[in-house]
Amino acid sequence: MTVLRITEYPAKVLAEVGEPVTKFDAAMRRLCEDMFETMYAEEGAGLAAAQVGLGLRLFVMDYVGVRLVAANPEMLSAEGEQPGEEGCLSVGKIHAPLRRAERVLLRAQDVEGNWYEQEAEGPAARCLQHETDHCDGRLFITRLSPLKREMVLKKFQKMKK
Ligand code: NI
Repeated sequence: MTVLRITEYPAKVLAEVGEPVTKFDAAMRRLCEDMFETMYAEEGAGLAAAQVGLGLRLFVMDYVGVRLVAANPEMLSAEGEQPGEEGCLSVGKIHAPLRRAERVLLRAQDVEGNWYEQEAEGPAARCLQHETDHCDGRLFITRLSPLKREMVLKKFQKMKK
């Protein structure tokens, strides 16, 4: 297994809608293993393909007891609201408060290509929303108010120096 390099803001791939995953072969299994390895090395809760430079609708997650591979994810439902903080490996793990749906139902394919549905609430639901956003070319900072976004990006730029 290989720890991949994290793609950071403002890389173009992070702002692009991913291509559907169509091949569930050995290369796909290998990619998912490497993404898990990378996520663990970076101490992330989830990691999307765009964050390792690949324009694919794919993410992995291992957080609060939910471990999964999600290819071609779609949110079937999202309800309620939760306050909380959010950060992203592609934006230096700088946290900002962001309201998300409290409960979600996700539909996705596993590493073999089998469709499944995953219910989640609280922190796990937040993670699923954050990672599905990545597949749609959306960073969490695009959901922040302009002022909060500016604060996160300033901190990130300072970090990069
Ligand atoms: Ni992220």
